[in-house]
Amino acid sequence: MTLPVSIDSVGAACAYVMLTPDPYAKLMAARAVARAWRLGRLAHRFDTAMPDRPARPATPKLLPPGQMPRRGKIGSERARIAMLHALAHIEFVAIDLAFDLIGRFGGEFPRAFTDQWMQVGAEEAMHFALLDRRLRQMGSHYGALPAHDGLWQAAEETAGDALARLAIVPMVLEARALDITPATVERFESVGDSTTAKMLQRIMHDEIRHVSAGTTWFSWATNRLGVESANHYQMLVKRHFRGSVKPPFNDSARRQAGLTEDFYAALAT
Ligand SMILES: [Fe+2]
Ligand SMILES: [Fe+2]
Repeated sequence: MTLPVSIDSVGAACAYVMLTPDPYAKLMAARAVARAWRLGRLAHRFDTAMPDRPARPATPKLLPPGQMPRRGKIGSERARIAMLHALAHIEFVAIDLAFDLIGRFGGEFPRAFTDQWMQVGAEEAMHFALLDRRLRQMGSHYGALPAHDGLWQAAEETAGDALARLAIVPMVLEARALDITPATVERFESVGDSTTAKMLQRIMHDEIRHVSAGTTWFSWATNRLGVESANHYQMLVKRHFRGSVKPPFNDSARRQAGLTEDFYAALAT
């Protein structure tokens, strides 16, 4: 896929991904934008306002988190499909989160910030494609079940502050995925579905780097402000995150991502 010629800046390209509703078209747009950036075809210019909300396809139906139907008996195929569908939705939203981060805040950071988050955005698109393909192999697809709308709330809550966005999205929400994924992998392994288990492990490997990108740029920005990173992180999480930061933590994966205990131990509930 090639981008329309009018898309010649990073800002315009990020808005283009966000305003593409169809899942397959969005994933192709994400890959095309990351590629165009790599090839030097986009100016490092942030001249386009990001939409408040990304365009969404007609399905899945979005429900408030508390209204999601129950997943059925653990171990049943129905429950596994529901779990993969929930993960596919997270990856789908993660595409928009990456491009919104770049388009909204990239101008406050050096070019290397855009380099790194473009790569993250392309990886989220690949994760979504992997999960949707697996759902199709199991007789379902993304959009077949409802999904919950909690993730974008975190984006709205942090739309005005790059540091709050980095603290909440990669350093709380993506870090939590590192805590949860090993148990999910085990669950798929225990029913003999090693294909899904391996896929989730591969995704987790990338997610460690996404958390690491969050931690790296958070520290870069707090150093520049002359404030202490861990304290500032705790203040922002208390102010902007309504959920709880709860153990058990995957300390080793978090540490690999530069998210050491001095950041989150004091927040644990
Ligand atoms: Fe991902
Ligand atoms: Fe990610």
